[in-house]
Amino acid sequence: MNLVVVSNRLPFAVSRDEHGQWAIEPGSGGLVTALRPVLRNRGGRWIGWSGATREDLPDSAALFKDSQRRFGYELVPVPLSSSERDGFYAGFSNEIVWPLFHDLVPLANFAPAYWAAYEAVNEKFAEAIARSAGPDDFVWVHDYHLMRVATALAARGAACRAAFFLHIPFPPLDVFLKLPWRFEVLRSLLDFDLVGFQTVRDRRNFVQCVRLLLPEARVTGRGAVWSMTAGGRELRIGSFPISIDVADFERRGQAAEVAAKTAEIRASEPGRQVVLGVDRLDYTKGLPQKLEAFRTLLRRRQELQGRVTLFQVVIPSREDIPRYQEHKTTVDRLVGEINGEFTRGGWAPIHYVHRSLEGPRLPAYYRAADVALVTPLKDGMNLVSKEYCATRSDGDGVLVLSEFAGAAAELQRGALLVNPYDVEGVADALYAALTMPEVERRARMRRLRRAVREHDIYHWLDTFLRAAAAHELSDFPLVEDYLPAAATATGTVP
Ligand code: F6P
Repeated sequence: MNLVVVSNRLPFAVSRDEHGQWAIEPGSGGLVTALRPVLRNRGGRWIGWSGATREDLPDSAALFKDSQRRFGYELVPVPLSSSERDGFYAGFSNEIVWPLFHDLVPLANFAPAYWAAYEAVNEKFAEAIARSAGPDDFVWVHDYHLMRVATALAARGAACRAAFFLHIPFPPLDVFLKLPWRFEVLRSLLDFDLVGFQTVRDRRNFVQCVRLLLPEARVTGRGAVWSMTAGGRELRIGSFPISIDVADFERRGQAAEVAAKTAEIRASEPGRQVVLGVDRLDYTKGLPQKLEAFRTLLRRRQELQGRVTLFQVVIPSREDIPRYQEHKTTVDRLVGEINGEFTRGGWAPIHYVHRSLEGPRLPAYYRAADVALVTPLKDGMNLVSKEYCATRSDGDGVLVLSEFAGAAAELQRGALLVNPYDVEGVADALYAALTMPEVERRARMRRLRRAVREHDIYHWLDTFLRAAAAHELSDFPLVEDYLPAAATATGTVP
């Protein structure tokens, strides 16, 4: 059995060198690292878009023809024209599904033309899969760009088994109902053989939508993986919280060059505490609310002025989409306002870094930070929170985490959980983090590190693939859920 991985983007970066020649670099994220050995050992391929349009890169296949030799598995590009990129990727995927599935309904642009583009590109992906997967192959489709693929495969009579993993949240019924194509999308997901979600919350939302909108569907099960019968087919649905390569982050955090860089960051803030934020520049990440919370802290606790600095790293993202441009303007303005209000005598409260961090810089920021402030409005998982814990093999550091990040379920016993919309609550939790006694900091970090070590990316991969193949579903223990309770609302340990 070969494994055929399918995602919107192929796992590498394409770029043009100074002579205008295209080149490819394999990606380094956790998903690629975990899947690479499986693809190599079982034999397999990865199907996806190169990220460049057909107009810019007319023959993407030529660029990838020796990928098997270079990377150990085959890369199959799906070429997209600029109008397909606009309608399918920027349009339906990122102007409709992305805001809607993150509960941000007013930010969605339900332009009818986007649906046709989404369907057409999903067909195109299905065509590429049908060409390269045989009946014995296992097709693993990733994320919200490709929810229609199984339906398109079935229409082609493709006999391969296909599983799907949703990396972003699945919304509650009332939000999902806003989608003009809600029945089409829901039914398409049921055409897969296994549908995986990040958390119990997402699976609960999905099951509720299916039960109420498709009453003929039957759902049974108790552990992490359930069984569902719908439309005359049987499929599995489960919660599989994604993770990171924990050992790799630990190793990187201990490198000598990271120690040197960490010392440099600390020396730049003598006698001050460092709070760190690392977020893609995306409106789901709650950056304005986080900045407001930091401003509230400095206003309320004036003794902290000059004693604490927020390093906010924002990674440029989806810059062609108008909402993202507007969002950048909002964030830039707030940073300017807060720095304007408080900067004095060699201290600026916010260091704003607007670029990706390469090499030792990211682990060095993690190691230098007294507090990591991770406050998305909603997030499928949020790997930054797990990276922070994995990197802190020194056992120190406090994590302040949004209760709406998928990671809150696994990290609830060590993090200070906050509601990111509650600006004063976040300011209070940040104050508690900055003044926390060392014994408590270390006890919490021990729990956080235990949680991330137990469930790393290899555990995620193994559980998902086993759920697809297992005869017995009761072998999959329950995954932790998180629901706020009055006792934990202020971040006290349950
Ligand atoms: O979190 C969902 C996700 O698609 C990630 O897989 C990806 O790293 C990120 O959003 C940015 O996505 P893109 O630049 O492909 O739109």
